[in-house]
Amino acid sequence: MNGNLIVKNAAQVVTCSGFKAKQGPEMSDLSIIDNGAVIIEAGKIKAVGDSFDLLKGFDTREFEVIDATRKAVLPGFVDSHTHFVFGGYRPDEFAWRLRGDSYMDIMNRGGGIANSVQATRNASPEELMQVGQKRLDSMLSFGVTTVEGKSGYGLDLGTEIKQLKVMKELGKIHPMDIIPTFLGAHATPPEFKGRTDQFIDLVMEMLPEIEKQQLAEFCDIFCEKNVFSVEQSRKLLSRAKELGFKLKIHADEIVQFGGAELAAELGAVSADHLLQASDQGIKDMAGSGVVTTLLPGTAFSLKEPYARGRYMIDNGCAVALATDLNPGSCFSESIPLIVALATLYMHLTPEEAITALTINGAAAVDRADRIGSIDKGKQGDLVILEFPSYRFIPYHVGVNTVETVIKKGDVVFS
Ligand code: NIG
Ligand code: FE
Repeated sequence: MNGNLIVKNAAQVVTCSGFKAKQGPEMSDLSIIDNGAVIIEAGKIKAVGDSFDLLKGFDTREFEVIDATRKAVLPGFVDSHTHFVFGGYRPDEFAWRLRGDSYMDIMNRGGGIANSVQATRNASPEELMQVGQKRLDSMLSFGVTTVEGKSGYGLDLGTEIKQLKVMKELGKIHPMDIIPTFLGAHATPPEFKGRTDQFIDLVMEMLPEIEKQQLAEFCDIFCEKNVFSVEQSRKLLSRAKELGFKLKIHADEIVQFGGAELAAELGAVSADHLLQASDQGIKDMAGSGVVTTLLPGTAFSLKEPYARGRYMIDNGCAVALATDLNPGSCFSESIPLIVALATLYMHLTPEEAITALTINGAAAVDRADRIGSIDKGKQGDLVILEFPSYRFIPYHVGVNTVETVIKKGDVVFS
């Protein structure tokens, strides 16, 4: 475990080469090296290229060497939108939705997010650590090496901080890199019922404390009809930006609401969900370089129409894919499920889906300069498949094709 590792003889090294988000047609370029090798030294990628050329005369004694004959090597996946730290579960809501209730019906009658808020407030940090760690282990097994995680099941300062601190602690003991997002404006808690403006003021008061304790890199809000308005979202996110937070926004999930346009206006790093994003909003996001993060597992679980992934790419967007793992709208961390839905129902090509999970996922967490591709100087985060091509990921539908996961040059799953 010294971060020195060589992967050689790979049927293909899918480099996804690049240092920024890929927009529109650029998403088709995976920059594949056949019969490739990757050299990682002290956790960083030192070289990538043809296996024979790269290793000719190279002294491998200080390196762990993996022979990847008949296997494909990819960058570690970036799951750029999750809510993986939460207490309790909501299986009944899934059954109610099958019966015909909508996500918003359940939320409006006091279930939904409020249910998880209660359970998360009641959970000890140790309990949250324990479930969080298990979820991270599962994500790692799917090839995810970097994950974004949101607070938002506290909705009071103490519990929001508890969630964010759990993520920080998990980051110290787990190989996964965790990027924390403050989502204090996830819903209005019961004690503020009917006083949403006052609650937004309270969340704004939480921001400096979160900033002072360096607990979150991003600020996010659920901008949606009957949750938080565009005006409230603009107010909170503008203040967050002033304080140095990068921005994300849950936008246009259930109804067309102007969230995509707001993301472009504020220069958000990403806008997420976007099932109902307008043509204008899509144009604005493409023009201002907002990463459009699509979460097909959520549309699937809620039986909502899928976001217009094909249209977004054709109109120049940089699309990322993520799971949205959470206890309500999508209790799944399955990368194979996401790829299946993105290709079969959002009409992404296999190449675009891989770009969306790697370099564009990295861009969605503002790390395209460090992770998301197999380029010299980047972090040594790799996935080795049990098959010779990335195309097996959509093709072997719904099944995990990941055999080995490498984080900073060490094998962390096999
Ligand atoms: O991204 N849309 C809002 N937030 C989450 C769901 C949270 C929940 O239901 O617990 C989402 O889908
Ligand atoms: Fe979400």
